[in-house]
Amino acid sequence: MATDAWWRDAVIYQIYPRSFADGNGDGMGDLPGITARLPQLRELGVDAVWLSPFYPSPQHDAGYDVADYRGVDPRFGSLGDADKLIGTAHDLGLKVIVDLVPNHTSSDHEWFKAALAAGPGSPERERYIFRDGDQAPNSWQSVFGGSAWQQLPDGQWFLHLFDVSQPDLNWDHPEVRAEFLDILRFWLDRGVDGFRVDVAHGLIKDAELTDWSAPSVILGGLEPVGPPPPMWDQEGVHEIYRQWRAVLDEYEGGRILVAEAWVQPEERLARYVRPDEMHQAFNFPYLEAPWLPAELRAVIDSSLAANDAVGATTTWVLSNHDVVRHASRLGFPAGTKRMPGIGVGDPQPDQVLGLRRARAATLLMLGLPGSAYLYQGEELGLPEHTQLPDEYREDPAWERSGHTERGRDGCRVPIPWEADAPSYGFGPAEASWLPQPPIWAEYALDRQVDVPGSTYELYRSALAARREHELGSGELVWLASDTDALAFRNGGVTVVTNFGAEPAALPDGARVLLSSEPLADDGRIPTDVTVWAVV
Ligand code: NOJ
Repeated sequence: MATDAWWRDAVIYQIYPRSFADGNGDGMGDLPGITARLPQLRELGVDAVWLSPFYPSPQHDAGYDVADYRGVDPRFGSLGDADKLIGTAHDLGLKVIVDLVPNHTSSDHEWFKAALAAGPGSPERERYIFRDGDQAPNSWQSVFGGSAWQQLPDGQWFLHLFDVSQPDLNWDHPEVRAEFLDILRFWLDRGVDGFRVDVAHGLIKDAELTDWSAPSVILGGLEPVGPPPPMWDQEGVHEIYRQWRAVLDEYEGGRILVAEAWVQPEERLARYVRPDEMHQAFNFPYLEAPWLPAELRAVIDSSLAANDAVGATTTWVLSNHDVVRHASRLGFPAGTKRMPGIGVGDPQPDQVLGLRRARAATLLMLGLPGSAYLYQGEELGLPEHTQLPDEYREDPAWERSGHTERGRDGCRVPIPWEADAPSYGFGPAEASWLPQPPIWAEYALDRQVDVPGSTYELYRSALAARREHELGSGELVWLASDTDALAFRNGGVTVVTNFGAEPAALPDGARVLLSSEPLADDGRIPTDVTVWAVV
């Protein structure tokens, strides 16, 4: 859709700058590295890229601790490099979405440094959430483990729902609101096409800071019923996004806001994408659904219904930088509980089964109407690095949980481009910031391009067929199938996934367009396989 509503059916590819491509050979990815590889993303067939944060940051949470919202960390390049990246992407017909982190700053941000220096009772402290007391003001827990409050030598406490280096901003303060409106304009003026809004459900806290002793889990684990916890999904957040939307609407070309909001059920999530708020929200209930047909059908139906009710497009996602990659997640028995990382000594996924199901899951997802998000490396079938030695772990959750949660490093390992190059083509350095496992060679892009049946070619064909058959803007109609399969029609394409132990039949007269694995000799669909067909 080449209009201002480009995002409604777009396939958006997440780039994790630390791990995508290293241009300068320091072992960490950077913006020039990304720019040089953009033509390959065009070749893959995506419509847009979303970049995780590249702002100046002490990197205590891999850049989600922002010290300056208007700059580029020297590790990643310069503002000029950001401009080049945006320009190159646009020349290639790719949109660019950047990450915005408004819930908290880094403790290295000048506002927080000023707050520490100015002391209790100062106006500088009003921009954050400071409280007095002999004890922590309430029982809130940090998402990464431990108390969400930190006491300073002067006796005051400050709130940090994430790492201690990520103090929460006070969004009731007019200066905070004004500052972010200005930051939006700063990047819109540079030409970005949108913002992925980090922890979009967290900005406003319940006014009384009511006690809540359950963990402040966001990355999964929210109960789909009951009132929201006092730190999440408070009514006041919506007013902020209405204001932001008004700013975006002043710009041409369809600039968008995407909510990262771990909110359930889907009707509550859909409130973030009402016509005068954001454009899209990540569909985490879909990401978290087990590999079971009834559960998947239920979440597809409830997602479409909730978004239709507010006139929004539904999004779909299977992997990102916060969860175990789906090629590994699906290698555990269906219904396995969410894993906060996998390490040596933990139960290991069945990699063959995981990849088989991942390919089927992707083909199912890309057959759905709406917009889909891909995470770098999934087009290579990349698994989680489940053998990463613990001494390399950088995720703050590892330390803060007292080494009970391995955290997210396993899905953030630099991706392999060339099997026989240093760091598998990630960059000129021999070693990357997180070590890549030797199996990365088999997954390298140059081992997959033009190789029939490779995961890369499956993604490329699926994206081309999705575009040709306009599946993103289609409509889903369920078809009768046996209980171990899911079958639906989207425009002229029939999508069938077989979850059962027995092969499933294709509709009569179907001509197969794509199949996540070869079909059986008799033409039926084997276990854990998705087929696209025209009937
Ligand atoms: C969500 C981001 O995706 C995650 O990586 C980060 O740790 C938290 N928000 C805190 O900013």
